[in-house]
Amino acid sequence: MFTSRRRREPSPPAARRPQAFAATEGLATLGEWLRFGEKLLSRSGLAFGQVATNPHDEALALILHALKLPLDSGSGAKARRLRPEEKVAVLALLRRRMEERIPTAYLTREAWLGGKRFYVDERVIIPRSYFVEIIPRLGRWLGAKTFSSRLRIADVCTGSGCLAILLAGYFPGGKVDAIDLDPGALEVARINLRSHRLARRVRLWTSDLFDAVPPARYDLIVSNPPYEPSARLDTLPPEFRREPWLALDGGVDGLAVIRRLIRQARQRLSGRGALLIEVGGLRRAIDREFAAERPEWLPTEDGSDCICLIRAGRGAAKAQGAIRRHRL
Ligand SMILES: C[S@@+](CC[C@H](N)C(=O)[O-])C[C@H]1O[C@@H](n2cnc3c(N)ncnc32)[C@H](O)[C@@H]1O
Repeated sequence: MFTSRRRREPSPPAARRPQAFAATEGLATLGEWLRFGEKLLSRSGLAFGQVATNPHDEALALILHALKLPLDSGSGAKARRLRPEEKVAVLALLRRRMEERIPTAYLTREAWLGGKRFYVDERVIIPRSYFVEIIPRLGRWLGAKTFSSRLRIADVCTGSGCLAILLAGYFPGGKVDAIDLDPGALEVARINLRSHRLARRVRLWTSDLFDAVPPARYDLIVSNPPYEPSARLDTLPPEFRREPWLALDGGVDGLAVIRRLIRQARQRLSGRGALLIEVGGLRRAIDREFAAERPEWLPTEDGSDCICLIRAGRGAAKAQGAIRRHRL
């Protein structure tokens, strides 16, 4: 999972250097603080890939947050001079990122996915799913008839609700059930549903997969479940280990949740339905164990083969012509 979900850069050995903070005396403008912050983060042995993939973007996110400026502040903002109390706020954030290895998104309380802002805190994994590439192409793939009808959609393992919200945006006539085992994660999802004004169209369920969800058939089941083999969790960089264990731990072989989800989906998909799961680096294991389901692999920009598609009753789907067989 880490290999594909966690787009990170190799970490040099961790090095704490409090003396680095002494060099801030002459820094006046946002641009100067950005150069300083970037250098500091890049030399500190941090792992990236949760919010940004490089120290420049993380330093920028932290500095803009400390100055209460939006992330899309133009380059003109670089000339802005910092007041003394703003310098203190910037230093405090850089310090926490560096010394406590707190992910930037947990410090700023926000993450962006698919052009949308999501509230995040330690109760949820920081949104960075490959589904952000797949969801915009689903309409073309599902076909015009299905696209315009009232799709029933399930987002299983919803966490912050980010995928449920993206799905609701791309399928305006759709009704979404967003499911998670963790009540804390669902509280975060509720915050995001309210801020995206989707509380009516996306329904939250506290449930172990579909166990506590009333019987219903779905046209689309989407899931970004935990898929990290348990033994690998301890080897993750510290900022990744700050994310909820329940969001990462896929059991001995990474497949514990996926295996149950594929079985349950057989009873939950409509005849023309499709199950899409993000599976990290588990393609070979899934191809082997679920050969009978004929998994297909949807292309992503970096060729990581991590989004698996399993169609319901292929014969039935073919007859109805609801899902066209062309690839994304
Ligand atoms: C990798 S996170 C995905 C969150 C979100 N969908 C995203 O893409 O950012 C996995 C989520 O699955 C939830 N989860 C783990 N086991 C579960 C289970 N058996 N049933 C339902 N949710 C589960 C975790 O609480 C966590 O929020």
